[in-house]
Amino acid sequence: MSQATFSVSDIRKTFLDFFASKGHTVVASSPLVPGNDPTLMFTNSGMVQFKDVFLGSDKRSYVRAASVQACLRAGGKHNDLENVGYTARHHTFFEMLGNWSFGDYFKRESLEWAWELLTQVYKLPADKLYATVYMEDDEAYGIWEGIFVKAGWTPERIKAETRIIRIGDNKGGRYKSDNFWMMADTGPCGPCSEIFYDHGPHIPGGPPGSPDEDGDRFIEIWNNVFMQFNMHEDGSVTPLPAPCVDTGMGLERLAAILQHVHSNYEIDIFDALIKAASRETGCTDLNNKSLRVIADHIRATAFLVSDGVVPSNEGRGYVQRRIVRRAIRHGYLLGQKTPFFHKLVPDLVKLMGAAYPNMADQAERIADVLRVEEERFFETLQSGMQILDAALDGGVKVLPGEVAFKLHDTYGFPLDLSADVCRERGLSVDEAGFATAMEKQKAQARAAGKFKMDKALDYSGAGNDFVGYDELTANAKVLALYADGNAVTELKAGQAGVVVLDTTPFYAESGGQVGDQGMIHNAGGQFNVLDTLKIKADVFGHHGEIKSGSLKVGDAVQAHVDLDLRAATVRNHSATHLMHKALREVLGGHVQQKGSLVNADRTRFDFAHNAPVTDAEIRQIEAQVNAEILANAAAQARVMDIESAQKTGAMMLFGEKYGETVRVLDIGTSRELCGGTHVKATGDIGLFKIVSEGGVAAGVRRIEAVTGTNALAYLQSLEDTVTQAAGTLKAQPAELNNRIAQVLDQVKALEKELAAAKGKLASAQGDELMTQAVDIKGVKLLVAQLEGADAKTLRDTVDKLKDKLKTAVVLLTAVDGEKVQIAAGVTADSTGKVKAGELASFVAGQVGGKGGGKPDMAMAGGTKPEALPAAMASVQAWVSERV
Ligand code: ALA
Repeated sequence: MSQATFSVSDIRKTFLDFFASKGHTVVASSPLVPGNDPTLMFTNSGMVQFKDVFLGSDKRSYVRAASVQACLRAGGKHNDLENVGYTARHHTFFEMLGNWSFGDYFKRESLEWAWELLTQVYKLPADKLYATVYMEDDEAYGIWEGIFVKAGWTPERIKAETRIIRIGDNKGGRYKSDNFWMMADTGPCGPCSEIFYDHGPHIPGGPPGSPDEDGDRFIEIWNNVFMQFNMHEDGSVTPLPAPCVDTGMGLERLAAILQHVHSNYEIDIFDALIKAASRETGCTDLNNKSLRVIADHIRATAFLVSDGVVPSNEGRGYVQRRIVRRAIRHGYLLGQKTPFFHKLVPDLVKLMGAAYPNMADQAERIADVLRVEEERFFETLQSGMQILDAALDGGVKVLPGEVAFKLHDTYGFPLDLSADVCRERGLSVDEAGFATAMEKQKAQARAAGKFKMDKALDYSGAGNDFVGYDELTANAKVLALYADGNAVTELKAGQAGVVVLDTTPFYAESGGQVGDQGMIHNAGGQFNVLDTLKIKADVFGHHGEIKSGSLKVGDAVQAHVDLDLRAATVRNHSATHLMHKALREVLGGHVQQKGSLVNADRTRFDFAHNAPVTDAEIRQIEAQVNAEILANAAAQARVMDIESAQKTGAMMLFGEKYGETVRVLDIGTSRELCGGTHVKATGDIGLFKIVSEGGVAAGVRRIEAVTGTNALAYLQSLEDTVTQAAGTLKAQPAELNNRIAQVLDQVKALEKELAAAKGKLASAQGDELMTQAVDIKGVKLLVAQLEGADAKTLRDTVDKLKDKLKTAVVLLTAVDGEKVQIAAGVTADSTGKVKAGELASFVAGQVGGKGGGKPDMAMAGGTKPEALPAAMASVQAWVSERV
């Protein structure tokens, strides 16, 4: 039967149109870095942006949604990095087609629509399709039976061909199953039903649940998850507020079927990327595994950069580094010895830029970031590969852990890169040995890792009221307490823990602004708050320790934010908005926020810009921000829906997760979406001063600035330095520049005088020395030590003495601390008999040194001044033997 052929972009459009026709709202792909979710490294499926909707803590205006989501499965719970290149269907980056019901339709519609889309729109032959259900899910089994019967199957045929397969807990534990889906170790989850496509008997592999299910014949294309539970840290589950549907279909897998190819790497996008990789590496075998790896990894790494992840040694940045380096190593395998990978960015933009304009807009920066990482890794790649080759030569079966660690530590080889090389040769890595070697550095790594997945607090109660925009003190009730990550009913003196309140004036860290500090107390106890962090969007955890007494769940308390710290923080935050605006005006509209940190000390702002910010530009930015401060305009925050906010022209940060209602903050002439706390009027900022500017990554600059009392303290400390320097130089501060120039001139003049004096001294000594020369068979021999002479003086004096003595051998020495200097000279008429180089070397040898030089002039050194007198005394005999 001849099937229609769909391009990848046809498939995206057809999918979204189909679900739109079933009442779904089409939602854009969210960034690869999930907003505000410490449990997840990367967006690993379409449901991530809806997590809070499933949990009931976020609401949308729609109950049905569909999207094409950019996903990454590397370095988290769902990790396919190691498989890329080895199978026809694994990717790091991929696109997921998905549809959702938030408490609206459930299993029946979900499965029936999936079948309808596959068989009637994409026109897949029904007899190629198989379904799995969770062992206990009779309901889903029944729905599938109905679907097959409607399509003409008899119940007997369904059974005989095992079209519907039950899969139980096959991964070692309750709910640990291929048919029970979880986003991460905790969070929304539920039983699922997967649809498989049979690529035909010519491909090895068995149906799901069979021993050879991992082959490439039966490929899972669409997962329908019936989200029913919230999984907690202890493995227990509680029901979600409403049963939901979460589906995900791999775009690349579907495309392979619809384009009549077997491997995902043969579909249109990959065909073009593999050709581009072939062009850049010179490898003409388009089936080469390394080309596939490169084609996969350029997608992952480019999208990661565009979502703000640059290669680094920690967290997400390290996963990015591992992927880039894996791609580079595969290029190296194909003979590439210089950066090539970044040259694929324009090809990627051509293929995917229309669907992902944000990625396309950043093409230049992406290529820059990748090139820098390539240049860096190519510096050590070759040496690392030699070490690895040497270690694997000679028939070892396992690469020793210390070697893998050395490669990691010194040559920048991520462990999985070494493992990849081993795997190609049928060998393995001693990962336990690697882990032991790594242990030493573990403390550091732990501090760097910000993913507190295992410390996520389990809280399912009500959210808190945040009153901290207007109030810094509030009466509240203790809703929950935690010690060591576990819920407790009481915290006692000396204990560290986390407090949840029903009402709180404490701002919880987000949007770059740090969490508030302060105190929570009642008559019975005092808890010092050292930081405030979100447990969920509307549940704030107050982290700290009990100073005295105790706190119990249910206690009425008073919460006080530390006023000074908060005031200093808001000054910095408001100044950041003004600075962002000024940066765009002074440097250009391409300036885009890449990260920010606002605390009580300063504001740190990272932004896209390709050149250092000049001193003149910094002055201009400072002037502009301070002008806004002097205008003392009142700040205003308005809460509205996201569409209205867009209409106000407020600046929105790409990569930030915004809910449906947002806060539009006007301060001075800046208008941004912001949930942070701010000054009442710009004048409250006091003074704004930039204190540093520098580069943090390719195409990203960092500015640090201070405000208010910190700006005053900064200027006072500069003033102190200036005053002290002026005092030392006995000048007024205003005259400091002239005075320094004068002093430097004086130093120069003195240096000149000193050099002249040394010369004079040496020649005077030389004149005196002439008289000490002894005659050996017509040749004058002069051996002497000059006080305080340096190498140049010695050499000059030797020259002068040679001139004056006419036929002569001269050896001069000088001692400076532990160092001996030796200069030997022989007049041209005597070099046939005595060689200056040999003489210098003869003397140096006796004072712990070496030296030599030409027959007429030689310099040498030594380290044993105590041996010098004897060495000098030996010269006369040495010369006598030769003349
Ligand atoms: N979230 C489900 C998956 O990724 C649909 O398989």
